[in-house]
Amino acid sequence: MLRVVILGVAAGGGVPQWNCGCPVCRTARTERPELQSTQASIAISADGEHWFLVNASPDLRQQLIATPQLHPKAGKLRHSPISGVILTNGEIDAVAGLLSMREGWPFTIYAHATVLSTLKENSIFNVLTEKNVRRQPIELDRAFEPALPDGSRSGIEVVAFAVPGKSAWYLEGKPHTGGRNGAGGTLGLRIGDKTTGKYFYFLAACAGVTEDLKARLAGAPLIFFDGTVWRDDELITAGLGNKTGQNMGHIAMSGDSGAIASLAGLDIGRKIFLHINNSNPALLHDSGERKIAERAGWQIPADGMEITL
Ligand code: MLT
Ligand code: MN
Ligand code: ZN
Repeated sequence: MLRVVILGVAAGGGVPQWNCGCPVCRTARTERPELQSTQASIAISADGEHWFLVNASPDLRQQLIATPQLHPKAGKLRHSPISGVILTNGEIDAVAGLLSMREGWPFTIYAHATVLSTLKENSIFNVLTEKNVRRQPIELDRAFEPALPDGSRSGIEVVAFAVPGKSAWYLEGKPHTGGRNGAGGTLGLRIGDKTTGKYFYFLAACAGVTEDLKARLAGAPLIFFDGTVWRDDELITAGLGNKTGQNMGHIAMSGDSGAIASLAGLDIGRKIFLHINNSNPALLHDSGERKIAERAGWQIPADGMEITL
C-alpha cells in the first residue's frame, strides 16, 4: 500500500509570503487562516514505517511537527522515520529543508547529478556529512528503488524523467554542468508500489506539456502537477513582480496551452495541483478560477492531506 502525505501545497514563498500583501496572502493572514500553506513537498511510504520525502522545503521543520507519521518512534532517543529525500530540482524551496535535517540521522539524498553538484558547490550543505548522508545520482528513465537505512528494500519504485523547465533561480545565467536550460534540473517522477503495482506521478515544476509527457500521464490513477500560476502574466498584472510563469519555468493552469487544457481527456484518475503560488486566485475557495479548475476535475489540496493507493 502506497501512502502519500502532502506536506506542503504552496510554491516558493508559501502562503502567506513574508513580504506579500496580495489578496490571497492578506486573506490567509486574517479571516481565512485555513488558506495558509507551506512550501511544496510530499512524503511517501510503502510500509507505513519508513518514509521518503520528495523535496525538502524551507518549511520542513514545521511540516514534520505537523505530521505524526514522521515523528521519532516512541521510546527511541534518536530516530526518524525518514530514510531519504528525493529531489526533483535545485530550487531553494526544494532543497533548503535539507539544512533542517543536519542533526546526525542517516539518510540518502537522491537527485540528478546537476543538483548534486549544486549542493556540493554550496559548502553550507557540507553540514550533511558524507558519513551520515549519502548522495545517490538519479539517472533519467531508469527505475530505482530507494533503500532503507540498513540497505534493505523500501518497496518503492521511482522513475525520473526530464520535463521542460529551467535552472534554479539563483543559477540563472550560469553555465550548467547538466547542459543547456537546466537539463536534468527539472524532473518528473513516476512513483510506484513494487508489491501492488499502484503508481502516481509527481511534477511540481513543469514549463509545458509535450506530446511525450501526455503519453506518459495518460491513464495514470493520480498526478500531482505544477499549479504555480493561474495566468502566465498574473504576477505582472497584479503588480507583484516582473516575471511570467514561463520565465520561472512554470506552466499556467489556464489558457489554451495551460495545464487544465493540455491534460484534459487523458483519462487521469485524480488530478491535484501542487506548488501553487500565493498570487494564484484558484487558492480562494469562492473564486471563479477555483470553480473552473474544479469543474475540470482538478483538486486544490490542503497541507496534511493523506492519500492511499
Ligand atoms: C520556483 O519554483 O520558481 C522557485 O521556487 C522560485 C523561488 O525560489 O522562490
Ligand atoms: Mn518553486
Ligand atoms: Zn501574496
